[in-house]
Amino acid sequence: MSRVIVRSRQETDKIREACRVAADVLEHMAQNVRIGISTHELDQVAGKRMAQLGAESACLNYRAGSKVFPCHTCISVNEEVVHGVASLRRTVLAGDVVSLDVVVRYKGYIGDNARTVIVDPISEEAAFLVQTTREALHHGISFAKVGNRIGQISNAIQQYIESRNLSIVRNFVGHGVGKDMHEEPQIPNFGRKNEGPRLKDGVTLAIEPMVNLGSHEVDIQPDGWTAVTRDRKLSAHFEHTILVTRSGPEILTICKN
Ligand code: MF3
Ligand code: CO
Repeated sequence: MSRVIVRSRQETDKIREACRVAADVLEHMAQNVRIGISTHELDQVAGKRMAQLGAESACLNYRAGSKVFPCHTCISVNEEVVHGVASLRRTVLAGDVVSLDVVVRYKGYIGDNARTVIVDPISEEAAFLVQTTREALHHGISFAKVGNRIGQISNAIQQYIESRNLSIVRNFVGHGVGKDMHEEPQIPNFGRKNEGPRLKDGVTLAIEPMVNLGSHEVDIQPDGWTAVTRDRKLSAHFEHTILVTRSGPEILTICKN
């Protein structure tokens, strides 16, 4: 079963606050991406910022089956798609494509957002991949309207990406978000317009296209978390938490500080 969850005004106010914190932490992290910093240090920077803001990571100690996620954030470099595990040994190099994914819990509510940044010198193909993934997210968000189906968001993202000869990852999807990181409904970044539940005023969603330069297939690394492209070509990831309202989608994970 797949349904949408309608939030009260009190709840959407709380989710909005959590999202502002998540956006602040992501922005702070992005500003710290530079050649020579280790992904572990970047993760520490994010963890400290969360603590300063009175938030905690929703990723740290997140359980999936018998696996426990070991970091404050997900940092996925180049061929890594999502859920990258930070390491002291992985330092950021010139030209790296670095995907940052920040999920916080703040006063009991969740904010979830992600962004990919490129370190100089920026290759043309990396720039195209990252820019197109960002655009696909915003194109998808524009379909998050009262009365539309989830499938309209999914289909819009898929069309946008595939018409530009990039590929959409299938193994991971967007999701409802609010009190937990992953709530109903699932939001695939591919599919048919007439699928999924219809959107209502007061629904909060995390929309998150993951896009590959080569094939859409991914593998999981021996750490049990880090997803990588099977062909080891580049991948990018953008995500916002949004609120569906009668006057259109409101992007909640915008940094206002
Ligand atoms: N934005 C990611 C998601 O929605 C964050 C996952 S955190 C992890 O799946 F703990 F699962 F790694
Ligand atoms: Co998410």
